[in-house]
Amino acid sequence: MTTLNSGFNHRGCFGLLMLVLLLSFNANAWADSQTAKDLVKNSCSTCHKFEGKPESKFNLKAPDLMWGGNKYQRSWLLRYLQGKEENLYPKGYRWDQGSEPFKHTTLSEAQANKVADYFEKNLLDKRVEKSFVDMSTFNEMEKNLGEKIYRDFSCFGCHQIKEDGKKIGGPISVTLYDAGKRYNLDWWTQFAKNPQDFTPHSGEYLADLTPLQARYIIGYVMTLGVEDFNYFKPWETEPFKKADAKRGSKVYKEYCVQCHGPQGRGDGPGASGLDPKPAVHADLPLSDYPDDYLYFLIYYGGKSVGKSPNMPNWGLTIPTQGIADVIAYLRTTFKGN
Ligand code: HEC
Ligand code: HEC
Ligand code: HEC
Repeated sequence: MTTLNSGFNHRGCFGLLMLVLLLSFNANAWADSQTAKDLVKNSCSTCHKFEGKPESKFNLKAPDLMWGGNKYQRSWLLRYLQGKEENLYPKGYRWDQGSEPFKHTTLSEAQANKVADYFEKNLLDKRVEKSFVDMSTFNEMEKNLGEKIYRDFSCFGCHQIKEDGKKIGGPISVTLYDAGKRYNLDWWTQFAKNPQDFTPHSGEYLADLTPLQARYIIGYVMTLGVEDFNYFKPWETEPFKKADAKRGSKVYKEYCVQCHGPQGRGDGPGASGLDPKPAVHADLPLSDYPDDYLYFLIYYGGKSVGKSPNMPNWGLTIPTQGIADVIAYLRTTFKGN
């Protein structure tokens, strides 16, 4: 009796298991066979807007997705839709409506790919143009300058980034610590130019930047979360391979002697009123100074490397070849005592 019973039970369990497996398989297959269009229309649209004009977030349940095809890097979008990313809004998108931790719908990999295809095909925003920022020429000093703008222009106040692995900054809007893995550069540039195009009342904090400063902050955000970002190294480019100390001596006469003096003794006519005094090149082993240090010092000025701001930035005055040449001159002429 006991044996029979347990035999029956086993068979019953097995049958139930098969049924559950079959059902869940069928449910997945059914969901996967749903077109992305249906999914977007029947499910996503209950919270997100896919057409119409941008609106104040206080009229929305979730971020607008009319530009969903321009905004994200596909790899990020796929991870997010599969529930493999942290929430973007630490206090909830609508922080004014309770603070229950939000759990976003998750999709299978196949569904996520379909949705991404659908976005890329149907949700392109014509206002988004090719960015004026070329990230392949973005160097580490530009990142530093962008980081400074991030602090000075209150971005920290509302958007978190990470420092030494720890999240810092106000959590009220979207986190930006992995922005470089999330945004499409063109979309983010368009947003930076005019946030109102996408989110009314989000603030035009960047409106009074120069184009160069805009490059720094836009580029900086695109490096966030990109561990192995490949910074451009100008000192490894052609002009530096062709650098000529003789040509450099002319550059030195024209731009440097006024402060540093004809023999690099720090006694140019402009030196008298300066404190600290212009460096005495004749005493410095400039031949051994690192490439990046000399380049950044001369291109972006003393303050970029923690020296006096009275050492000017020459990047906009002297062409790259001239900077390469004057560095070659410094290196061959000043070898320390
Ligand atoms: C119950 C409401 C709801 C539904 C349904 C929903 N979402 Fe969302 N979605 C949100 C909220 C809220 C956020 C912001 C969450 C966060 O903090 O990460 C969000 C964020 C997103 C984002 C990132 C937006 C951005 O740029 O900041 C994408 C992309 C997205 N959802 C796609 C979808 C897709 C595709 C579907 C349908 C399969 C969907 N969502 C269904 C509420 C919803
Ligand atoms: C007072 C708070 C506040 C400050 C300060 C602020 N932002 Fe925002 N930011 C917002 C809000 C609000 C949005 C719209 C998204 C949302 O609903 O939170 C937004 C949107 C963004 C977005 C697009 C988010 C997305 O995925 O849709 C980026 C990128 C961004 N801000 C960057 C910056 C930068 C860079 C600065 C500094 C120059 C800055 N923000 C300063 C509140 C702020
Ligand atoms: C307006 C005056 C002025 C001019 C012009 C000027 N410099 Fe300087 N330079 C300074 C001052 C001041 C310092 C010292 C900064 C300090 O000690 O904080 C300095 C320091 C330096 C140093 C030493 C940095 C170090 O780590 O000690 C180098 C190298 C240098 N300048 C190169 C140049 C070159 C090359 C030019 C021409 C392209 C130039 N400078 C033009 C004022 C000037």
